[in-house]
Amino acid sequence: MKEVLNVNHLKKRYESEDNITIALQDISFAIGEGEFISIMGASGSGKTTLLNCISTIDEATEGEIWINGTELSGLNEEDKAKFRRENLGFIFQDYNLLDTLTVEENISLALIIKQIPKSKIKERVSNISEQFGIQHILKKYPYEISGGEKQRCACVRAVSHWPQLIMADEPTGALDSGNSRILMETIKQLNDSIGTTILIVTHDIIVSSYTDRTLYIKDGRIYEDLNMKGLSADEKLKRLMNLEAEQHTEGGRSDVC
Ligand SMILES: Nc1ncnc2c1ncn2[C@@H]1O[C@H](COP(=O)(O)OP(=O)(O)OP(=O)(O)O)[C@@H](O)[C@H]1O
Ligand SMILES: [Mg+2]
Repeated sequence: MKEVLNVNHLKKRYESEDNITIALQDISFAIGEGEFISIMGASGSGKTTLLNCISTIDEATEGEIWINGTELSGLNEEDKAKFRRENLGFIFQDYNLLDTLTVEENISLALIIKQIPKSKIKERVSNISEQFGIQHILKKYPYEISGGEKQRCACVRAVSHWPQLIMADEPTGALDSGNSRILMETIKQLNDSIGTTILIVTHDIIVSSYTDRTLYIKDGRIYEDLNMKGLSADEKLKRLMNLEAEQHTEGGRSDVC
């Protein structure tokens, strides 16, 4: 399987005048094309820091991140922005839809920013909207649609330029359980039908159970790399619950870190 992401001995320290926080101690893993992965771990374990380093929003202190054969620390700011635009897609918790534009214009704007030729944009928005069942709300404004529909639009927008890797930090954080389920089914559909590689940070085992692999982070290290591909939803939930339960037994398995 072709590797889309390779993280190699990543370390991240936050330093201020009177304080040093080691957010990532030593993280290595690889993700193959088309994988659907979740990152779990307790609050403060380093999940967002890891995602921010991969998405070029933050810079690692040590180590390497390769995306599709490009090592990120070798890029200057301008190249990083271009790389991000062309290769990465994001699903934000607060949707990031512009209120003064219709759903169609929001998605089109994302494609204009990605420098997709104008002649191709209308057709692409129409095709992808049909695929994800949002054609009926294309002419509406964000304030005229529900939270779940907004999040579905945000998914369509994230995938509209066919990025190599889609990332989301707690995408269901602002949704109720019904809309979380709809969103996860939409994200799973992105993975199944388009084969997009997806990396989701979550603290929710239900969200994680939609994915095929879970990296569990503890104290800035990978505590467990749980492969769940091919398992039933129930079996996935059982394994994830066991993993969570281990964290609450005395000391967990910190000896294997
Ligand atoms: N900009 C920063 N400056 C200093 N310390 C930071 C900064 N950002 C995060 N940290 C610290 O790094 C550690 C990891 O934080 P991070 O945000 O990655 O955790 P998280 O796993 O995403 O937590 P949560 O589940 O609460 O979102 C924490 O101890 C946090 O306090
Ligand atoms: Mg976080």
